Amino acid sequence: MIRKDMLSIKKLETIAKDTFLIVLASNISVDDVAPGQFIHIRIGQGNAHLLRRPISIADVDQANQLLTIIFKSVGEGTTQLSKQKVGDQVDALLPCGTAYPIAGLTMHSALLIGGGIGVPPLYYLAKQLVAKGIKVTAILGFQNKEHVFYEQEFQALGDVYIATNDGSYGYQGFVTDVYQQVQPDFDCYFSCGPTAMLKSVTSTLEDKQGYISLEERMGCGVGACFACVVPSHDGGYRKICQQGPVFPAKEVAL
Ligand code: FES
Repeated sequence: MIRKDMLSIKKLETIAKDTFLIVLASNISVDDVAPGQFIHIRIGQGNAHLLRRPISIADVDQANQLLTIIFKSVGEGTTQLSKQKVGDQVDALLPCGTAYPIAGLTMHSALLIGGGIGVPPLYYLAKQLVAKGIKVTAILGFQNKEHVFYEQEFQALGDVYIATNDGSYGYQGFVTDVYQQVQPDFDCYFSCGPTAMLKSVTSTLEDKQGYISLEERMGCGVGACFACVVPSHDGGYRKICQQGPVFPAKEVAL
C-alpha cells in the first residue's frame, strides 16, 4: 500500500561522477518495500505532481528502517535533491510500482544486467536473491570509468563484469557485448537501464525468461501525464509508473 512519509536524510555522498547516494530514515516500517520498486520524492515547494521525481530504491535496511537511493543529477529536480543536507526531510510516496517477482520464481541462478542509473535497483534484488540461495552474476554497464559505482558491493554477492562505453574501465562496449563474451549460465534474467540497452538485452536473450524495468521512461510517476506509456504485445499499452516499472520481458514492445 502506497503511503506518504517524511523521510529524514541520514547520509548523503557522491559515489561517482554526478551520482549521489542518500540514506533515508523512515518513520514507519519499510518491511514491505521490494526490489524494483521506487519512491516518489517531492522536491522543493509548489505543485506536488510537477515536482515529484521517481527514484529507484537501491537498498533497504529493515532492522533500522532505512532506505538507500542512488541517482544522477540530470536536471533541476535531481540537482536540488543532491544539494540537500543530512537532517533535512524529504516528502516521499512509497513504495511505488511493481517489483521483480522473485517470490514466485523457481531458479538456481540469475543474471542481472544493469546500465548506468539502472544499476541501483539490481543491488537490492541481488541481496534478496543471494539470501534465497540463488547464484547471482551481474553485468553492469557505465559511460566511462568516472561513472562506475557499486562494483565492490556487487562483488560481495557474486560474479561481476563491468563494461564501459569507451573501455576506460573493465570490458569495452555494451553489456550485451560482455554477455556474448562471458556466456554465463542462468535460469532467469533481470535488467534495468536505458531503453536502447533493454531493447538490445531482450533481443539478445529472447529465448530466455526475464524481467525488465523501464523506469527511465517515467514522467509524473502518478498516472497523470501519460509520458510513460509503452505499447504491449497484446495490442494495448501499459503505464510504466502504475503497471510497471517491472514487466515480464516479453510483455512490452520497446
Ligand atoms: Fe505520468 Fe506514468 S509517468 S502517467
